Amino acid sequence: MKLAGNTVLVTGGASGIGLAMAERFLQAGSTVIICGRRQDKLQEAQQKHPALHTRVCDVAVEADRVALLEWATTTFPQLNVLVNNAGIQRRINPVAQQEDWRETQQEITINLGAPIHLCHLFIPHLKEQPTAAIVNVTSGLAFTPAAFAPIYCATKAALHSYTMSLRYLLAKTNVEVVEIVPPAVNTDLGGAGLHTFGADLNEFTNSVMERVDQGELEVGFGSSEERRNASRAENDAFSAQMNARLS
Ligand SMILES: NC(=O)c1ccc[n+]([C@@H]2O[C@H](COP(=O)([O-])OP(=O)(O)OC[C@H]3O[C@@H](n4cnc5c(N)ncnc54)[C@H](OP(=O)(O)O)[C@@H]3O)[C@@H](O)[C@H]2O)c1
Repeated sequence: MKLAGNTVLVTGGASGIGLAMAERFLQAGSTVIICGRRQDKLQEAQQKHPALHTRVCDVAVEADRVALLEWATTTFPQLNVLVNNAGIQRRINPVAQQEDWRETQQEITINLGAPIHLCHLFIPHLKEQPTAAIVNVTSGLAFTPAAFAPIYCATKAALHSYTMSLRYLLAKTNVEVVEIVPPAVNTDLGGAGLHTFGADLNEFTNSVMERVDQGELEVGFGSSEERRNASRAENDAFSAQMNARLS
């Protein structure tokens, strides 16, 4: 897909990878709408980029997702790209400590249920556009689970699988299905300071968005590029090493 000439909705677009992708679409001349739960973060992003359109929306809430479709497609009838980027990561050990199921369910809903539902909601509208795309943001951890974030990794593996199915289901339509597979990137994911060891946000975003613009459908960076192309044996070795180091 081209970065130019679109009307793009980025969930979780007020910070981190979502904001960086929103900036690349803006720079290419696309119209960009970002949504998230925190009004102050949306305002901050809009002050930096006055062309951005914003909407408060909690993608974990079904009614918010339906309202987002109604508002976005009414206000921006040419909307043709949905970027499912919003996500959270919790470091938990459910074996050592039981947690309230609602906590677990919230992570599953934000990372997996919401993007699936948003795809289903937006596909009829996207199919009406001359060209369209769905961009799902998964993770290198979809390929090599890290036991410190077991629910997160499971949601990302499932979203990767769903994204592949969706690509087949939409193959004969105008809707392209793109997957961005980040490695650890220096953002506030999971809380400030947890990902400072990760890749530089701009280097990561420049690389993946350039490749998306060139038409690639599944794009990683650094170690996630290796892992999405690795054999099962190679990824098992990577997982064993990572989990030994981090446990
Ligand atoms: N950074 C990494 O190392 C890394 C690696 C692999 C994959 N990823 C993926 O990249 C995506 C972006 O993460 P990031 O690293 O940029 O972290 P981030 O800066 O924490 O961004 C996450 C964004 O999602 C929004 N969000 C979270 N829950 C939401 C909800 N219920 N409704 C609406 N918006 C919600 C947050 O805004 P509010 O809190 O205001 O709602 C925030 O703007 C995520 O899907 C993440 O899993 C990141």
